[in-house]
This record gives sequence, structure tokens and C-alpha cells, in this order.
Amino acid sequence: MADKTSTEGTKNIFHRPDMANKIAKQVLHVSPTSASSSGVFLTAPRRTGKTTFMREDLAPALTAQGALVIYVDLWEDPKADPSDVIISAIKAELARHEFALKRLAKSFSLGGAKIAGVDFSLDRIGLGKEVSLVQALSAISDTTKKVIVLIIDEAQHAITTSSGSDAMFSLKSARDELNSHQHHGLRVVCTGSNRDKLAMLRNSKDQAFFGAPLVPFPSLGKDYVAWFCKNSDDLPTPLSVDVVLPLFERSGSRPEILGAAADELRFDFTLEGHQVTERFSWAVEEQIKATNDDAMRVIRSLTPVQSAVLRVLAASGAEYAPFESATMERYKIAVRQARDAGVNVEVTAVQQALLALQEKSLVWRASRGVYAIEDSTLTELLRQQGLLEGLSGHGEGSDYTKDFVPQTCAR
Ligand SMILES: Nc1ncnc2c1ncn2[C@@H]1O[C@H](COP(=O)(O)OP(=O)(O)OP(=O)(O)O)[C@@H](O)[C@H]1O
Ligand SMILES: [Mg+2]
Repeated sequence: MADKTSTEGTKNIFHRPDMANKIAKQVLHVSPTSASSSGVFLTAPRRTGKTTFMREDLAPALTAQGALVIYVDLWEDPKADPSDVIISAIKAELARHEFALKRLAKSFSLGGAKIAGVDFSLDRIGLGKEVSLVQALSAISDTTKKVIVLIIDEAQHAITTSSGSDAMFSLKSARDELNSHQHHGLRVVCTGSNRDKLAMLRNSKDQAFFGAPLVPFPSLGKDYVAWFCKNSDDLPTPLSVDVVLPLFERSGSRPEILGAAADELRFDFTLEGHQVTERFSWAVEEQIKATNDDAMRVIRSLTPVQSAVLRVLAASGAEYAPFESATMERYKIAVRQARDAGVNVEVTAVQQALLALQEKSLVWRASRGVYAIEDSTLTELLRQQGLLEGLSGHGEGSDYTKDFVPQTCAR
């Protein structure tokens, strides 16, 4: 059944209750043969509506199915340590449950500030503190008798610091404890905008959520476009779904690009009815071009070594090994392709280039020293421009991001 605008919920949002209910059911009712009690990882490119869906559709659907939802956005404050953000969210939930607090205060004989009439300081909860995350979550589970679903938005950010990684391990222990028969269950749902990065949280055995399913999160589609056209009825002539849908797909399924194009028309007070379709198409194309041009300007401002490192990383995807001799050869090919043959590519130059690319927010580094392209749509743009040819080490550029092929690169 197609999703539709819910009669409840936020008016300026297109809701997807059917999809939310399906995902919620899958998250809560784990089959004995599934690995998803490890958690579920949902990934989709930047600005395609992940956060909106998690907050406005999935969280309410999970709550309606009897779960207790704790939502954490690791991008809310990019400067904060991800472990602090996760711990604060759990503490805030705990503070809502007086019985859980009393239970903890009693079992640990703790004193401190009064919260909800209970003598207990929340500062005593955390990594390496008297009360662990496992104990805090168990207390919430036992008091509420509900499955707890922890939604971690932009979860890949957790592994950029070692305490963030520790927090993920602590959540894994909590999951194992709460999924035992004494408690009521813990599910972890992680989202992220970069498949390579998110995959690092569950690909290797030394990661907390090894083996958890990594699922492409469905983008907004025709139903959203129909909702958008219906709600753009303040334009002199209605927009047609047949015209807008291909434009939306070309824009990488980003609602903001359609919204900005419609606004351009809204503020053109000389616009006549018969011009609407043509002007709207033009405005969307302009938005797409502007975002791509902007990204290409940044690429062109790189030094030859930075550009070579960026392109080889983009072409290699998850296979990227920055200092292997085969990779060093590929940097040299990239430099030659750019007709910068006189430039020397050595290990220290590559190290410096990786640092500079991180500072420019083009490259992302996990705390274990594994690298990924910050925004996977940049890889697609580089590929379209022919800048990845012959650099992947296996013929064509890596097709790692093939599932998500938006045609713009928003920065
Ligand atoms: N279902 C929707 N209905 C209407 N507008 C939407 C919907 N989903 C997303 N948008 C709009 O698209 C923009 C991006 O949405 P959102 O922040 O949820 O995306 P995101 O994928 O989480 O982005 P980021 O990669 O930056 O975290 C916002 O302006 C939001 O209002
Ligand atoms: Mg988001």
C-alpha cells in the first residue's frame, strides 16, 4: 500500500506511516534466525529526509507498537563528544522515570542532587562511572517493562572518537543484557548518510555491531512529489507530477531543491500561469547546477596531491588503503592525469593531504585511522566528471555507492 499524508502529525511534512510501521515491526519482532537483534543500520544520502522520517514517522510508529524510544542525533552538536551525547540522552530518559531512579539509588546506595524527589545524581552514570549504561538502561527496562529502541542518527560519528567507540561497545553489552529473558529488550537503530562510513560500525569483528543488517533507506518518491504538487497550489498554475518527478529524481530526491525552486517562482511577481512549468524546470536545473558547480570549485582549489588523494579514495571506496604501494602508484597516475607530472607523491605528502582534506570536510576519518569520502554524492559527481577513471585498481571506479546515485552534490 502506498504511503500517504497522515491526518495527524506535522502539516508541512509528507508522512510515510506504512513504511514506518513496517520498519517498526521488523525492528521490534526479531526472528530467531535474524542477526538484527544486533541493531539495524539504515543509510541514505545527505538531505533526503532521514532525520525527518526517524523523528516524525518511525519514532511515533515504534511508540504506537509499545516501545520506548530514545532518539539521539550525533550531529546536533558536532563539537560534542558522541559518547556524551548518547549518555545525556539516556540520562534524560532515566530522569523521566522516578521508579527507575529510586531502584538505582537504592541498589547503589547513592546520594546526590534530588531528581523527581529522589536522592540521586545523574553524574554518577556513564562510561567508567559507578552506574554503567547497561545498569541505567536495565533500570528503565525493568520499570517500564517496554522494549527500548535507541535511534542513533548519524551513528558513524560515534567512531570518530575513542570514547564514542566505547559508548557503542557499552550499548552492545546493554543490548545483550536487556535482550536476555530477565529484561524487556533493547534494539539499536542507526542511520547515516554514508554507506562506507556506516558500514565500518558493523563490518569488522572488533566493531560493536558486527553483522547487523545495513539497509538502504527508501528515498521519497512519487507519493511525495504528488503531495508537493498538491501543496504548491499557491502558484499561478498547478505543477504536474509527470513534470516534477523526473526533476526530483535528477535532484537526488532532495526536497529542499524542489522547495527552493518553488520559492523562486513564488517571489517572481511577474510570473504568468502558462510560464509555471517551464520556469519550475529551469529553476530546479539551476539549483542542481549551482550545487555541482559549488562542489567542483572546491575540488579545483585543491593542490595536485590533495586532488589525487581525494580521487583515489573516491575510486577505491571501502578498499582504500592510504599507504599501500599499489595506492601510492594510483596517486601518481592521478597526478599524471591532471598533467601535474612534476609533483612528488610521498607518504608524508599523502598524510598532509589527508589532514587538509579532513579540514575541508571532504574526507572523514574514523578513530581507527580508516578513511572515507565525507559525502558519498561527491564520489558520484567526480565519476560523472570522468575524474575517477583508471584509479580504482580494478578497471572502472568502485561501484560501492551504486545504490545511491543522486545527480547533485549538495555541500
Ligand atoms: N517527508 C518530508 N516531507 C517534507 N519535507 C521533507 C520530508 N523529509 C525531508 N524533508 C525536508 O528535506 C530537508 C532534509 O531533511 P532531513 O534533515 O530530514 O534530511 P537528512 O537526510 O536527515 O539530512 P542530513 O543528511 O543533513 O542529516 C529538510 O528541509 C526537510 O524539511
Ligand atoms: Mg539528518
